[in-house]
Amino acid sequence: MKIRFADSRPVGEYTLVLPIAGTDWSRLDTLGAGRPLAESTLKRQRFEGEAASAADLFVEGTGRVLVVGTGDGVKPAEAAEKLGGTTVARLLLSGESHAVIDLSGLAYDADAAAKVALAATLRAWRFDQYRTKLKDKQKPTLDEITVVGAGADAAHRWEQRWQPVLDGVALTRELVTEPANLLFPESFVERCQAALKGTGIEVEVLTGDQMKTLGMGALIGVAQGSVRDPRMLVMKWAGGAEGTPPVAFVGKGVTFDTGGISIKPAQGMESMKWDMGGAGAVAGAMLTLARRKAKANIVGICGMVENMPDGNAQRPGDVVTTMSGQTVEVINTDAEGRLVLADAITYAQKEFKPTVIVDLATLTGAILISLGHEFGGLFTPDDKLAQQLLAAGEETGDKLWRMPLHETFDRLIDSPIADMKNVGPREGGSITAAQFIQRFVDEGVKWAHLDIAGKAWSEKPSTTYDKGATGFGVRLIDQFVESVLEK
Ligand code: BES
Ligand code: MN
Ligand code: ZN
Repeated sequence: MKIRFADSRPVGEYTLVLPIAGTDWSRLDTLGAGRPLAESTLKRQRFEGEAASAADLFVEGTGRVLVVGTGDGVKPAEAAEKLGGTTVARLLLSGESHAVIDLSGLAYDADAAAKVALAATLRAWRFDQYRTKLKDKQKPTLDEITVVGAGADAAHRWEQRWQPVLDGVALTRELVTEPANLLFPESFVERCQAALKGTGIEVEVLTGDQMKTLGMGALIGVAQGSVRDPRMLVMKWAGGAEGTPPVAFVGKGVTFDTGGISIKPAQGMESMKWDMGGAGAVAGAMLTLARRKAKANIVGICGMVENMPDGNAQRPGDVVTTMSGQTVEVINTDAEGRLVLADAITYAQKEFKPTVIVDLATLTGAILISLGHEFGGLFTPDDKLAQQLLAAGEETGDKLWRMPLHETFDRLIDSPIADMKNVGPREGGSITAAQFIQRFVDEGVKWAHLDIAGKAWSEKPSTTYDKGATGFGVRLIDQFVESVLEK
């Protein structure tokens, strides 16, 4: 999608997009002699300018006009994303190739205007790679958007601040969408290396043998039933003051989760190709942070494995020794994400001494029972970190809801044979999962766990995404870094 910013409407063929805040019909003055009919047409369609409402008009002398409601009294900063997203949802396949969004007179500053472009481009993202028989009518036509009448610095703001976010989210969505026969630990790493090339991020990769040598028995145990060798992808961005310890983002990267020997039912198992959504978000966020040259020291770590049943797969009841030295009785091989995270977090701490660790994982089905698809689950003992992450979620739309941690839940994962077991009872399943991870966090390290199982993939479209991979987590991390670490 080509994005342009201009002071006035261009010449040529396009659909004019006219935002209207509620029923401020004076916005239609720009249609000249076409105004009276336009107004009555909108009224007859019961168009009232609510946020994300839209109506198509054909106006003598102007051509095709898309009137988009932005809500009565809603400020540009709040209305911007719905405006951009609604425009694209309506026009992407409409036959139109160019949309001109006219913000004249609406007091959109550079940032709000650039956010219109962000939402528009995010909503336009698609994955048609493997569709060889799309009919012309099924193909997108819209390939250019001109935003008119906003702050002079809008183009600059777009390039410097929000286009990097688009790039990061797009990388995450691509990784999440790719099927598991093509995207496995090694190829995930290759894709990320290609995407991060030239950004200034330093990439380091650990192989299965190297992780074995480091004592990552939990991660290796998960991987041992797969012919795909596991990987640890380490991405370092040093944009902050030299010597300042980094913040680490750690992602669960299970490129396919069959459940292992505790195998999952067939129904819906195909969705387990996106069980690397946490790792995908971490990789996408690193790309964003590097592209916008974030002034902070960040490490992104992705623990990449495939969880398969096999003659060599680990069994229920196996005891593994983690890199931390703690032992785990593997009651259920389908509770594999926490095993991967345990070693990835230990590695992060030993190698980088981070002050803060935030892990992202499609960790439990139980979080869907708690929060549905509306929120990611946030677990942290630190009230301040909770507030910061909740605020970043509100700001970006990657919304979180805080869940409890408590010693009474922690006791539920004690094992009679090892230091802990990898599952508790069914009830409170996302909380005991979080308690498990917490046992690997060192004293003095601030930690939050985000269970994004309900958010990495969506069965319904939203403002900034279509059905499918959402890219959840990228904007959250980006915003958290900006508002907490770059102040
Ligand atoms: N990857 C799944 C969790 C999941 C479920 C993600 C549905 C997205 C949608 C995870 O590895 C898993 O299998 N968790 C088990 C844990 C149980 C065995 C304690 C679960 O949630 O059922
Ligand atoms: Mn599983
Ligand atoms: Zn899983």
